[in-house]
Amino acid sequence: MKFSFSNPTRIEFGQGQIAAIETLIPKNQRVLVLYGGGSIKNNGVYDQVSKALEGYEWEEFAGVEPNPTVETLDKAVAQVKSSKVDFILAVGGGSVIDGAKYVAASAKYDGDGWDILTGKHTVDAALPIGAILTLPATGSESNGGSVISKKATQQKLPFMSPFVYPKFAVLDPDVIKSLPQRQVVNGLVDAFVHVCEQYLTFPQHAPVQDGYAETLLKTLIALGKDVDAPDDAWRANLMWSANQALNGLIGAGVVHDWATHMIGHELTALYGVDHARSLAIVQPSLLRVQFDSKQQKLTQMGKNVFGFEDGEDTARKTIDAIEAFYQSLSVDTQLTDYQGDKDTAISKILSQLKNHNMVALGEEKAITLEVSEKILQEAV
Ligand code: NZQ
Ligand code: ZN
Repeated sequence: MKFSFSNPTRIEFGQGQIAAIETLIPKNQRVLVLYGGGSIKNNGVYDQVSKALEGYEWEEFAGVEPNPTVETLDKAVAQVKSSKVDFILAVGGGSVIDGAKYVAASAKYDGDGWDILTGKHTVDAALPIGAILTLPATGSESNGGSVISKKATQQKLPFMSPFVYPKFAVLDPDVIKSLPQRQVVNGLVDAFVHVCEQYLTFPQHAPVQDGYAETLLKTLIALGKDVDAPDDAWRANLMWSANQALNGLIGAGVVHDWATHMIGHELTALYGVDHARSLAIVQPSLLRVQFDSKQQKLTQMGKNVFGFEDGEDTARKTIDAIEAFYQSLSVDTQLTDYQGDKDTAISKILSQLKNHNMVALGEEKAITLEVSEKILQEAV
């Protein structure tokens, strides 16, 4: 095993912690507050941020949409450049924080920001970012990943850079009291799949990574059972487990999968399916199609997470249990639940995967377009 691990994001966790940002952003910085469609205006978060920023020079950019688009974000880049902004404060869920990462990197690049997503430009500098998380799901608040869409071409592509890790993230579990149930459930499912993408591969002699991954999976399943009766501890544990699911720790030194995410992104880009729900459609089918290569880890997960006895059918029972977990949260796991004409949908998704060179996905790069087609055919 060989790896380099650094997570430079400072976490301020707990109720009332938004006030701490005045100790985290230097007073001489001109701040841009970036946010989404307005939920922060209705739940008191905007007021808390304004109060904490008293004495700073700051301005705002509103309207970053779920699955943020380059069309909207380029307007924020222009504002950052013309106002000479020094620091970007993202206040929102994964979409706003991902958007902030794009804006921070694009502001330091003279070319077309979309080059960052196509790989034509490798990020070599970015403005500093702080994050106030309002939706526990993506882990974006303390990782170097970002996923950006282009409306014009129905594309949704990721980029990673060590330059866009937020300097700090505020995780106040109280701010999620206003979340609609649909978004709470999305967060649970997204975090669960993030752990699976790093854990559910093949045995890699990594008991530390495996053991922590199993703890996170068990925690998320337990939280799912009480999704209708959240209390302070419930909200805090969801926030912390979603963060830990994708802050790099459980993935250090092991080969990952991520095929579910890459196929899922195409479903979102083409049909607007919520990110987490795209994963719930793809993953159970992917696990069945990739059964042989994943059998050992599925069996391990069955025993250590679901408490199954070791047996010939443990791995299959594990896939059923994962699917049942999503269904227990009322998350559909079939493509046809979203898109009536299955064949047309599949051929469009495959052609987008091909355009994006997503032709050798998964931990063994064994998911070719033919395999993706099989996965989609079975996700009926
Ligand atoms: O825009 P506002 O008005 O704020 O409303 C949002 C939005 O409509 C609302 N919301 C957020 N916090 C709220 C709230 N409503 C009430 N109370 C609150 N406290 O929730 C809606 C969805 O928000 P969004 O940020 O889109 O959700 P999420 O956090 O699930 O982010 C999804 C995006 O993150 C990307 C996804 O692809 C998707 O674009 N991902 C980013 C990753 C990363 N950077 O590491 C990894 C993930 O796998 C994922 O791909
Ligand atoms: Zn995800």
